[in-house]
Amino acid sequence: MKPKPLVKNAGKPKGFFGKLMIHAMNKEHTPLSLWGLDHLPEGQYRAALDIGCGGGVNLLRLSDFCNRVYGLDVSPLSVEESQKRCKKLIKNHLVRIELGSADHLPFPNDSFDLVTAFETIYFWPDLAACFAEVYRALRPGGIFLITNELKSDKDDPDKYAKLHEILELTVYDGEEMTAVLNSAGFADVTTHSEGEDWICAVARK
Ligand SMILES: C[S@@+](CC[C@H](N)C(=O)[O-])C[C@H]1O[C@@H](n2cnc3c(N)ncnc32)[C@H](O)[C@@H]1O
Repeated sequence: MKPKPLVKNAGKPKGFFGKLMIHAMNKEHTPLSLWGLDHLPEGQYRAALDIGCGGGVNLLRLSDFCNRVYGLDVSPLSVEESQKRCKKLIKNHLVRIELGSADHLPFPNDSFDLVTAFETIYFWPDLAACFAEVYRALRPGGIFLITNELKSDKDDPDKYAKLHEILELTVYDGEEMTAVLNSAGFADVTTHSEGEDWICAVARK
């Protein structure tokens, strides 16, 4: 069976179906994103970066409690749509959105108090290299929040085989994420689950 064009656009939205996908994600991912954000430790988050910002709604959410918010996405369409969504904040220099990939963050060391990744690490090319980049870009004490609606299941290793084939996506469980986060240098890693599949990880530099 051929994959539907809409689904194929989750990893790097482009064209007409990419635009539809971005609008669908802005809406459909809202409960998951809010649940993930609920796990942020209390603190002062001045500068935040959302990697894989998609349609940009999480940039708006971050701007509610961060002074300056950056978005990054590997898809030019996602960057364009996020820029439209955050037009006013960009004009007021509160949000800035760039094209780029998680494995080469275009930011100096120690730039952010918070880095978020909603529904995106499945597509990152080399998780260890990307987490090392996040670690580098965070200030000491800074927080990395990962939120996913899919998690792997050791008792059912083929659960996401079809999605893996269609989207070249890799699904991780809490143990796998924690191991890579610890190897990148992160401390105090905690993971939280909801229902069958939702998972978020909170890690501190
Ligand atoms: C499923 S969408 C999620 C979008 C948004 N975070 C949300 O929750 O609605 C995944 C996004 O991650 C982006 N992405 C995939 N690989 C990436 C990478 N290596 N670096 C940065 N962004 C990436 C895609 O282009 C896409 O916009």
